[in-house]
Amino acid sequence: MSDIEAIRDKYLEQIDAAADGDALETIRLAALGKKGEISLLLKTLGQMSPDERQEQGPKINGARQAVADALTSRKEAMETAALDAKLATEKLDLTLPAPSAPKGSIHPVSQVMDELAEIFADLGFSVATGPEIEDDWHNFTALNIPDTHPARAMHDTFYFPQTDDSGMPKLLRTHTSPVQIRTMMDVARQTGGAGEPIYLIAPGRTYRSDSDATHTPMFHQVEGLVIDKGIHMGHLKWTLETFVRAFFERDDIELRLRPSYFPFTEPSAEVDVGFSVEKGRRIIGGDSRSNEGGWMEILGSGMVHPNVIRNCGLDPDVWQGFAFGCGIDRLAMLKYGMDDLRAFFDGDLRWADHYGFDALDVPTLSGGVGA
Ligand code: PHE
Repeated sequence: MSDIEAIRDKYLEQIDAAADGDALETIRLAALGKKGEISLLLKTLGQMSPDERQEQGPKINGARQAVADALTSRKEAMETAALDAKLATEKLDLTLPAPSAPKGSIHPVSQVMDELAEIFADLGFSVATGPEIEDDWHNFTALNIPDTHPARAMHDTFYFPQTDDSGMPKLLRTHTSPVQIRTMMDVARQTGGAGEPIYLIAPGRTYRSDSDATHTPMFHQVEGLVIDKGIHMGHLKWTLETFVRAFFERDDIELRLRPSYFPFTEPSAEVDVGFSVEKGRRIIGGDSRSNEGGWMEILGSGMVHPNVIRNCGLDPDVWQGFAFGCGIDRLAMLKYGMDDLRAFFDGDLRWADHYGFDALDVPTLSGGVGA
């Protein structure tokens, strides 16, 4: 046997015995790599005499080919064996239902905001927004809130350490009422002080320094504002009644307006909804005068104070209106039966799964008001 055949057989044996792909690669480099034994032999062909080359050429090339072929077929055999082993251990039952993909849900607060927008859109209201970082003037002063009002106290309101360029204190808005101010001022500016009717709701985040089972430092309110000519408390009451009945999807809900006080409305009324008890659970609506029935406060409201209208650059002798402010989280709790407000903002996915709404199958209020 020639040297070349011995070399070839050495590699063929090694290839046969190789345990895995790494071992094969090591053999390939040793034989056929740049400095591999067979590669170096091939290089010697150049220095041979033509006769010698005639004899050695086919032998060396044959050895190279044999080793290359053996490497390829051994590699294929290894891959087939690996696949067979995998198929033997992994069984796929194609009759099982497909695993469901994780999917998000609509948070009850977002759901209720959408419902509010839908109900009030049917009544001709548009949706307005305002900044959550407000200044003292829009949040308090323009709303006729006196310097001594407790809501202005440091322990109730989150103030920022810096003031703005004009020296005005900045704060996280404590209610959505500054959106009233911003909208009325925009209207006054756009109409050169003449004014025009305004019908808006303004849902959004609000902040107070409060925390227990029914209060979180951040919560949600919806503001309502109507400015028009000849508006009176009757309009306010009808609007709220229509809203509450559409929202809770019952026609037998009664409202009770209790005299109250807000600096930015005069007269002011707190609004209660009647509840009754069905199967041990409080239900909005039904006979609130029955034994277990009663009243539950849901919002604050009133006729917009002339000072507020004037502060915004409109003439209170021409324009009147009503406003209301209502906690959205509380509306969600009452409608969908949740009892701890803090869970709304914990971000627990189990809670979100349970109380959230399917984005592709959101219950709507069957056409809204009047449907
Ligand atoms: N801004 C009031 C609050 O947060 C609610 C309110 C709004 C009352 C509009 C009357 C009119 O308590």
